[in-house]
Order: sequence, then structure tokens, then C-alpha cells
Amino acid sequence: MQLTINELQVFTTGDKSNKPIIFVHGFPYDHTMWDKQIDYLKDDYYCVTYDIRGLGSSAIGDGQYTMESYVDDLLEIISELTLIKPVLCGLSMGGYMAFRAIERSQDTFSSLILCDTKAEADSDEGKLIRASKIKQINEEGIEAFVESFVPTCFAEDTIENRNDLFQSVLSKCKTNDSIGVKGALIAMLSRTDTTNYLSKINIPTLIIVGENDALTPPAVMKSLNESISNSKFVVINDSGHMTPIEKPAAVNEAIDNFLKEN
Ligand code: MLT
Repeated sequence: MQLTINELQVFTTGDKSNKPIIFVHGFPYDHTMWDKQIDYLKDDYYCVTYDIRGLGSSAIGDGQYTMESYVDDLLEIISELTLIKPVLCGLSMGGYMAFRAIERSQDTFSSLILCDTKAEADSDEGKLIRASKIKQINEEGIEAFVESFVPTCFAEDTIENRNDLFQSVLSKCKTNDSIGVKGALIAMLSRTDTTNYLSKINIPTLIIVGENDALTPPAVMKSLNESISNSKFVVINDSGHMTPIEKPAAVNEAIDNFLKEN
């Protein structure tokens, strides 16, 4: 079912009486990056996902977003849908939101799934890279930005050997509005460092990373596993940063096993 909550497009699949899972996508993608997981889990879980403000089919508004306002949106969807103790699953930017949502309101959630993400804020170098991306969008347009950025999220093997899949994701990303994409870059730049909170996370946590993730490599995610006491670490072979799209079967199995254990 598709519904609008606070100008955001929200998608629910499955029976509301089942355990809820809310999936939060990465940048510059949309809710469809979770299609394969939702298709796999929908008979046993109430699956909720949405397009983050400024991306996909959600409202763009004035393009002025912060990580804090993104988390406000997430918590409002949970409240509007009266989700009781959902599992929170986020990839990369969705993971940044998950860390801050847990820091703000750990009791809201039953467990946490972190895919290809990190708890650190942007370094000075990272902030300058965000600025150069905004400049690139202003000077060359959204399509040129997407063409230069999205390939860095995928394993070479995916780009070469499953080019149709890669091209369909690339095309979808190009349909995003440049105001929304620039707003998302600033929201990520605005995020706080949540590393000090990692030792306080006490809900069961699954950490998933692609073996060839160039943006948040296995070593970075292993340190999350070392800092979060009740956590499990899974490396997805032959995948880049976009594990749920690149290796859906392995990600589905990891999530299913984790949810059955917790
Ligand atoms: C993402 O996949 O959400 C982004 O690559 C995260 C980032 O740019 O920091």
C-alpha cells in the first residue's frame, strides 16, 4: 500500500499484525533499493519503506534538510503508522539516520540492521568533497553527477557482468531532482558523530558489508562490530556498497537468520 505521511511517500507490504521492519534507503537512491528484501520478507514481516525527503517520489520542498530533520521524518512515520518496536534497517545514509534515531530513541526499536555505513561524521576532507559534488551538480547537472558517483557504489563485477541491473539503478538515480540531491548532501554533511554512542547500543544488531565496498569497507564496519556489544558481522562476497541490490539472496539470508535468532 502506498500512502503519504508528512509529504513523504511511504510503502507498506504485508500483514500489519506481523513484526514491523522499517527500511531506510541510501543516497541518491529510493525505496526500491529494498524491493528484493521486502519481496522475500513480506509473508512473515510487516515491511515499511519510504522515499527520504528530496529523493524518489517524496516532496522536495525547499531542499533545506538536516540529518536531524531526516530523523524527525523517520520517527514521525513510525508514530503515524503506530509501529510497535520495529526493526530498523538502514543502508549508508539510511544507516547515518539509524545511528542518530537509536541515539535519540533506542527504546523505540527492537533491533537494528546496519548495511554499508559508518558512525563517524564527515571529516574536513569529506565536507570539501560534499561541496565539490554540489558544485558539480550546479555546473554539470544531476545526470553528470550521478554518472560519476553511482559507479563508485557498485563492485566492478556488478557493473561488468550485470550491466542491465546497474543501468536501471543509474537511470532511476538520474530522475532525482537536483535540489533534493543537493539537500541530501548537506544533510549528510550536517550529521553528528555517533561513535561515542556505539557502546550504549544494547539491542541486537546485524552489521552487513560488501566485501568490495569502497565507501565503507569491511574494516570500517568491523570496528562497529567491535564497539556494539550484541552485534553480528556478515561480509557479503563479491559485492560493493549496494549489498541489498548487488547480492540480494545473501543479504536476505543474513537478515532472515538474524531476525529468527532475535
Ligand atoms: C550512501 O550510499 O548513502 C552514500 O554514499 C553515503 C555518503 O555519501 O556518505
